[in-house]
Amino acid sequence: MRKMEQKLRAGILGATGMVGQRFISLLENHPWFEVVTVAASERSAGKTYEEAVSDRWKMDTPMPESVKKLVVLNVNEVKKVADTVDLVFSAVDMTKDEIKAIEEEYAKTETPVVSNNSAHRWTPDVPMVVPEINTEHFDVIADQKKRLGTTRGFIAVKPNCSIQSYAPCLAAWKEFGAKEVVATTYQAISGAGKTFKDWPEMVENIIPYIGGEEEKSEQEPLRVLGKVENGEIVKAQLPKITCQCIRVPVFNGHTAAVFINFEKKPTKEQLIEKLVNFKGFPQEAELPSAPKQFIQYLEDDNRPQVKLDVDYERGMGVSIGRLREDTMFDYKFVGLSHNTVRGAAGGAVLCAEALTAKGYIQAK
Ligand SMILES: NC(=O)c1ccc[n+]([C@@H]2O[C@H](COP(=O)([O-])OP(=O)(O)OC[C@H]3O[C@@H](n4cnc5c(N)ncnc54)[C@H](OP(=O)(O)O)[C@@H]3O)[C@@H](O)[C@H]2O)c1
Repeated sequence: MRKMEQKLRAGILGATGMVGQRFISLLENHPWFEVVTVAASERSAGKTYEEAVSDRWKMDTPMPESVKKLVVLNVNEVKKVADTVDLVFSAVDMTKDEIKAIEEEYAKTETPVVSNNSAHRWTPDVPMVVPEINTEHFDVIADQKKRLGTTRGFIAVKPNCSIQSYAPCLAAWKEFGAKEVVATTYQAISGAGKTFKDWPEMVENIIPYIGGEEEKSEQEPLRVLGKVENGEIVKAQLPKITCQCIRVPVFNGHTAAVFINFEKKPTKEQLIEKLVNFKGFPQEAELPSAPKQFIQYLEDDNRPQVKLDVDYERGMGVSIGRLREDTMFDYKFVGLSHNTVRGAAGGAVLCAEALTAKGYIQAK
């Protein structure tokens, strides 16, 4: 892993929320990034981070001492925030149009924005990246900068948490030509920014609807698997994906039960071999947050389990199990990933590390 002479100064937009807190935790003692600025709504602005979060701290580990006394800034005071940092991580909860606009405002102050939000996931010249799969999509940043009129400011995003339990398999199995995928996701309540304390209706319950999630789960893998053409990302045409997304009484960890058909049906052994050997830029460059092994395959019939496997590779790895032939499809399997680590803040931090290693993010 490469050493950085001086750490880059990071700001967190939406720092008081569930994903914001996860950023704060993951960046504690990070070798390349130091959280120097926290920003949230005007409700929190002016208070210390400790006061603003108060009893809303939702992480298992204590609030880092280094952020407790930082005074929270207002996300909407863009210049004031931007002047203090080299890059920002975005996890604000505002309307899509507001997020689109404010992330562009930050980019135009020459501040790279690495976002967890969905607002820019389909902006043609904004890369949406799982760093093991498609860092070549960073190429569109040059065109985005031309559009924004910036020299170092740009936006990069990571995809939705729901796809991380099966989209990596589609990338690992690309050569077999996946053509049809039927997936059901069983999604944790932290994905809605909630705990059981603030969502008691979820105890012993299942809710068969998560607004907007099925479309994201069906479409976003195609953009990640797409290619760059004329400065834009063109989504892949296959596989066709249909998905149902269900909220389940789990705190952290999205599970997916998946059926799949291929153009060229491989053997089970070939599929497992491709999964466990799948790696990309984070492993080659030994990025600080990279899992050593991105995808593990578990042979036991009762794995992956949320309680046993969600923290695999510090929440940055994906666990797959129960791969077997099916009576209607070629194969079926079950996947699991950590929704607020790999699926949210951790995925964004890895993205920022990849951007830094490739020279897109530097000190101002
Ligand atoms: N939770 C997940 O696993 C997950 C995964 C993927 C994507 N996301 C997305 O990430 C975003 C954040 O999610 P979350 O679960 O962390 O939400 P959250 O816990 O509700 O936190 C929202 C954050 O946004 C701030 N905020 C709210 N309204 C604002 C406004 N008008 N102006 C400026 N800041 C405002 C809040 O500040 P105050 O504390 O001052 O109100 C807080 O810091 C959402 O867009 C969500 O869809 C979440």
